[in-house]
Amino acid sequence: MKLSIPVVETIQKRHSVRTYENKSLLPQDREALLICMKELDNPFGVPVHTYIIDKELRSDGEKLGTYGIIKGASTFLGVSIPDTKLAPLAAGYEFENLILLATHMGLGTVWLGATFSRDSFASAMKIPKDELFPAISPVGYPAAKRRLIENLTRSAMKASSRKEWKELFYQADFRTPLTKDMAGAYAQPLEMVRLAPSAKNTQPWRVRKTENAYHFYANYKSGLSKEEKTIKQVDIGIALSHFHQTALELGLTGAFEQMALEDENLPDNIHYMISWRFTE
Ligand SMILES: Cc1cc2nc3c(=O)[nH]c(=O)nc-3n(C[C@H](O)[C@H](O)[C@H](O)COP(=O)(O)O)c2cc1C
Repeated sequence: MKLSIPVVETIQKRHSVRTYENKSLLPQDREALLICMKELDNPFGVPVHTYIIDKELRSDGEKLGTYGIIKGASTFLGVSIPDTKLAPLAAGYEFENLILLATHMGLGTVWLGATFSRDSFASAMKIPKDELFPAISPVGYPAAKRRLIENLTRSAMKASSRKEWKELFYQADFRTPLTKDMAGAYAQPLEMVRLAPSAKNTQPWRVRKTENAYHFYANYKSGLSKEEKTIKQVDIGIALSHFHQTALELGLTGAFEQMALEDENLPDNIHYMISWRFTE
C-alpha cells in the first residue's frame, strides 16, 4: 500500500539522529505512530511485528542499552519477524516505511542493528522467543546540535555520501552500467534506492535491468554469519521500500516476484533476492 506521505521528499529529508532533545514523546505523536504501525503492510506476504516502548531516562539523559550511542530519546520502536526466507526483506520494508512516516511527522530516528542491548530490549518489547529481532530505533525530537561522538560516527562511515549509479545499477549483465536515460521512468525509484540507509552505510544493493524487470541482489562476502546475512537482507528490504513507494507515488505498475534465474552467471559475492516485474 502507498504511504500517505510525499515519499520522495521524505526520503531526501531523512537522516539518522543519535542526539535527541531530553523530553518524552508527546501523547499525540505516540498515538499517531501507533496508528501508523497498525496500518503497515508489505508486498512479500510476511507477518511483520512492530513494537513501541518507553524507557526511563537516566538523570544525565544517557540511554541505558544503547552503549552511549543514543542520547535523549526515551521511546523506542522495534521489529520482529518469523525465521522464513523473505522475512528479512519484509522487516526492512515495513520498518523503513515506519521510519519514513515518523520522519514526515518531524521525528528523528536511526536504525540500530548492532549497537543496542538485544536481550534487554527483547524482554522489554516482549519479542516472541521464536522470532528474529533484527533492529530497533529510538524515536524523538532531534536536538539542535549533534554530539562529538555522533559526528565521529558519521564521518567514519561517510554517512552523508552514497555510491554512484555506475557501481549499483546495471543492464543485462553486471558489466554494463544502467544510465538514468536507460532507466527512464524508473530513474527516480532507483535514485531513491541509492539514498537508502544501510548498516555501516555499506549500500549492499545491486540492481540489474532486463526487458521486463528490475532484479535486486545483495552484495556480500560468502561466509557471513546468519545474523550478518539477515542484516544485509534487511538493507535490501529498505531499498525495496524506497523503490516500491516511489514507483507507487509515480503511478508505475508492476509486482514483486521471485524469478527462476538459475542460468545466471553471477559475479562473486552477488546474491539474488527478488525482482520487480513491471507492466509499463
Ligand atoms: C539495518 C541497519 C542497521 C544499522 N545499525 C546501526 C547501529 O547498530 N548503530 C548505529 O549507530 N547506526 C546504525 N545504522 C545507521 C547507519 O549507520 C546509517 O543509516 C548510515 O550510516 C547512513 O546514514 P544516514 O542514515 O544518516 O543516511 C544502521 C542502519 C541500518 C539500515
